[in-house]
Amino acid sequence: MTSAVSDTASGRPPSNVPVLQVRDLSVAYGTPRGSLGAVDRISFDLYPGESLGVVGESGCGKSSMGRGLMQLLPAGAEVSGSATLAGRELVGASDQQLRRLRGEDIALVFQEPMTRLDPLMKVSAHFVEAIRAHRPGVDKDEARHMAREALAQMGIPRTRADNYPHEFSGGMRQRIMIALGIVLKPAVVIADEPTTALDVIVEAQILDLLDRLRADERVGLILITHNLGIVAETCDRVAVMYAGHIVETGSVEQVFNDPKHPYTRGLMASTISLETTALHSIEGYPPDLVDPPPGCRFHPRCPDAMYQCREKIPEHAEPNPGQHASCYLYPGSGQPDPEEPPGTLAAALHA
Ligand SMILES: Nc1ncnc2c1ncn2[C@@H]1O[C@H](COP(=O)(O)OP(=O)(O)OP(=O)(O)O)[C@@H](O)[C@H]1O
Ligand code: SF4
Ligand SMILES: [Mg+2]
Repeated sequence: MTSAVSDTASGRPPSNVPVLQVRDLSVAYGTPRGSLGAVDRISFDLYPGESLGVVGESGCGKSSMGRGLMQLLPAGAEVSGSATLAGRELVGASDQQLRRLRGEDIALVFQEPMTRLDPLMKVSAHFVEAIRAHRPGVDKDEARHMAREALAQMGIPRTRADNYPHEFSGGMRQRIMIALGIVLKPAVVIADEPTTALDVIVEAQILDLLDRLRADERVGLILITHNLGIVAETCDRVAVMYAGHIVETGSVEQVFNDPKHPYTRGLMASTISLETTALHSIEGYPPDLVDPPPGCRFHPRCPDAMYQCREKIPEHAEPNPGQHASCYLYPGSGQPDPEEPPGTLAAALHA
């Protein structure tokens, strides 16, 4: 699914050239039980200055997608398909090419920054190391200057650059990690649950900083999160993942106001808001990705399932311009079997 850019939320003129084009990207882990397909042939475009929220239940492949794009996967994992970053292919790139691309062109910000910062190294030394690994011609003083500027951009006083990681709060450490990620001004930043361990005030500050980065530097931002509220507030577009597939994409307005895929509807209903008093969770669990169900992977849990949903994975239909859903409820999703009366599978499954 290659939706046109919808940049209206930010009020900026749309860019027609994606900075990142992902086509049929798959990530599989080798496990004792067999190959586990964590990401299965996903496709999307990301435009400069756009923020794409990636949501879905735990285990649906969000982090694997982010790590697959960065080619940061454990031994035995396989990535296939294509991901081109400003025209350069990431999948299958050599270690040397990847070292150059990571940090310089694409950066991944994880949660748990303490595990990524060396407690024995001053914060500035982390920057000097990262900068000089990419740009050996930059001398140490210049690298320290770049560090101070990147920290200041993330709201950390320049004077704190020579402190050690433990001298900062959790929220400040996360901002340091983001500063490290952006010091070389990458075109794409993938933030994987960047605020999960933080309190709401610090969370809001970090989201604001990421948003400024997107707006000022026109960074393409992929924000992976469990928190639909964060996506509603900070993203232009959203991609909903279920069991390794992207099942719905659209602008935040479209997907939040008029979700089309039954899974998205279930996710929305599971979110507690000020208006709701009850939490309706989707019945059942995501499938085992070593042996996923045939057809639409959501069919065992779907209240709208039809017999044909078990047969073949639906295509991405476009129920509204720019909003795509992989579901047989919509024309363009592939030809459901007209012989079968709709709803009968759901009735049988949920009887
Ligand atoms: N190193 C690994 N080896 C084997 N399986 C893995 C590995 N990492 C993740 N998986 C499996 O891949 C699937 C997707 O996991 P992933 O971490 O990408 O999901 P997620 O959407 O990021 O979940 P969460 O919201 O909990 O972070 C899950 O079934 C998970 O168990
Ligand atoms: S394709 Fe069928 S099972 Fe899948 S979400 Fe749509 S109606 Fe439900
Ligand atoms: Mg994850």
